Amino acid sequence: MRWVKALLLAAGVAFALGAATGVQAAQPKCAIQAKLPPKGLPKGLGPYANKTLELSPCVDKELAKKGEQLFEQYCSGCHKITQRYVGPPLKGVTIARSPEWIMNLFLNTQEMVWNDPIAKALLQQYLTVMRPPADATEKDFRAIYEYLRYIDATGKTEVK
Ligand code: HEC
Repeated sequence: MRWVKALLLAAGVAFALGAATGVQAAQPKCAIQAKLPPKGLPKGLGPYANKTLELSPCVDKELAKKGEQLFEQYCSGCHKITQRYVGPPLKGVTIARSPEWIMNLFLNTQEMVWNDPIAKALLQQYLTVMRPPADATEKDFRAIYEYLRYIDATGKTEVK
């Protein structure tokens, strides 16, 4: 029986070593690696105030493509990516703000711009209340968010 124990011990040691060195190998390989926002950013007010939007470390290109089309349709009248327009430039926003804050701004705009300190300061600067499309669904906004993530990951505004 002793050799069985020795074998088990050896296997255990090998496994532990494998796990220790495997940490790096386990890093996901992405076609497009996302730039994730730092943890602990404010979440704002609204349906995502007490929720966590789990983000994949990889950008979902298909979803971003859908988001690009929705962005053209719903947002480009007020936003450019690198320049100030009616609203702020959106480059870097997925790193500067938490995903929950952005989703709350989309889904709960009025309360955000009147009561959230960051959105309030933006309103004072831009003097226009953002008007997201009333007929867009939460899924549409999530796709648009993925498009913004794509921009921040690649520096490109066209998904291809
Ligand atoms: C009527 C113009 C208008 C439309 C349409 C609009 N926005 Fe905005 N957006 C603004 C303004 C103005 C602000 C600054 C906050 C405020 O004053 O409401 C803003 C703020 C933002 C912010 C926060 C920027 C930051 O620096 O934190 C994001 C993100 C954003 N908009 C994304 C979008 C997206 C995505 C859409 C399309 C679904 C959209 N907006 C539609 C005008 C608009």
